[in-house]
Amino acid sequence: MAAATASYTFEHQHVIDSSHLSAADIWAVMENARTFAEILKRPIKKVPTLRGKVVVTMFYENSTRTRTSFELAAKYLSADTLNFSVSTSALKKGETLLDTVDTLMAMGADALIVRHASSGICHQLARLVGKRMSILNAGDGHHDHPSQGLLDLFTMLQAVPDLRGKKIVIAGDITHSRVARANLHILNAIGLDVHVVAPPTLLPVGISHMGCTVHDRIESALEEADIVMALRLQLERQQSGLLASLGEYAHCYGITRERLKQYCKPGVVVMHPGPMNRGVEITSDVADDPTLSLITRQVQSGVAIRMALLYLLLGKTPQPDAQVA
Ligand code: CP
Repeated sequence: MAAATASYTFEHQHVIDSSHLSAADIWAVMENARTFAEILKRPIKKVPTLRGKVVVTMFYENSTRTRTSFELAAKYLSADTLNFSVSTSALKKGETLLDTVDTLMAMGADALIVRHASSGICHQLARLVGKRMSILNAGDGHHDHPSQGLLDLFTMLQAVPDLRGKKIVIAGDITHSRVARANLHILNAIGLDVHVVAPPTLLPVGISHMGCTVHDRIESALEEADIVMALRLQLERQQSGLLASLGEYAHCYGITRERLKQYCKPGVVVMHPGPMNRGVEITSDVADDPTLSLITRQVQSGVAIRMALLYLLLGKTPQPDAQVA
């Protein structure tokens, strides 16, 4: 785990694919997020860094954490923000997504934060906009969710500053989870020991080539674990027949206090990207226990990480002169 060097430059125009982030990129995001997390502790959280920039959020799927934290991040950086309303836009009259993005770009948007059910849609948008705007992937289908993977790493580092040799377990619906993919790419890029566990029906083909140890029994996965991340069962993306019942999933794979105590290392910490199916992938007494759970800290990290990403993408270009003639 090597930190970014002083000569490092973040060269990306877009943040779409976690697998495109190098270890140096990831450490640069972490270092910048650390600075922004300090700023967020101040009574006045706003800095003028992105004054004059326009940041648009466009969410085709529901979101609480990602949309609001991107919006807050942009506001704290003094950018102008716009929540594009998919349901009341001309998209409903048949306008294409690409024409819609062209329109937003013509109005001067500098960054577009997109959540969409289609895996790979952000790549298409990036090809359209080129260097005229930055596209940030806020979750596309089950492909990727880079800012979530980065905020998860940031949260882990706050709880366990030296992650070398630590066993990190991702438990749940790996097949349909963009969060799992983001975490696998990011944690692998910096050389960490990642394990995944799920019922065989929720483990994707090729998972054994994704740089992790694969388990189909929760007991072996949790053995000596330092960090356990429970994932939401993506019921809206699953075809039927993958699980006998939610109750059986909870019984065989749910993260419970008893399992953590029996198998994991003392001091184990638990994460969940949210939203949670309480009592299914994680019990409430684990999720709500501040001595075990990093879930609230994940939400807090989201703002600092998204400030860091917006700063790295938009903060390089010269700001307009603030002086009025
Ligand atoms: N973790 C996550 O993406 O949450 P939201 O769906 O609330 O944005």
